[in-house]
Amino acid sequence: MSRRRLIGAAGAAGAAALGAAACGSPDEGPAPHDALRGTVVAQTSDIPVGGGSVVIDGKLVVTQPEKGDFKAFSAVCTHAGCTVQEVEATVNCLCHGSEFDIATGDVRSGPADRPLEELSITVDGTDIVLDEEPPQGEQGS
Ligand code: FES
Repeated sequence: MSRRRLIGAAGAAGAAALGAAACGSPDEGPAPHDALRGTVVAQTSDIPVGGGSVVIDGKLVVTQPEKGDFKAFSAVCTHAGCTVQEVEATVNCLCHGSEFDIATGDVRSGPADRPLEELSITVDGTDIVLDEEPPQGEQGS
């Protein structure tokens, strides 16, 4: 079974259309995930080891690069603002083909030239909670 995970999407064609429709400036207004701070965004069992999932209707990406090590990133592609659509060995933006590292969010393949924004999370039992406050250095943009 493929590690490809799409939660809340209706398949690759629908995801591509959704992603294309979601393109815009990545720097405009509040981030889509901001309204989710302090809430449970995924269950640990939903996130495959060595991969991840796009969760909460594409608002953020949760990955598990190593067993028990969870990371979260904004789902807003830093190239042109599409919502990234899939996670395999990399986080993939299907709009123009950018790929990001599942452990760091760094660009593995362009055209994006900036990493995905990393988000602070807390694992509470099986709940993955998006932290209330962004880490230092994330505020003020
Ligand atoms: S918007 Fe993601 S690769 Fe262009």
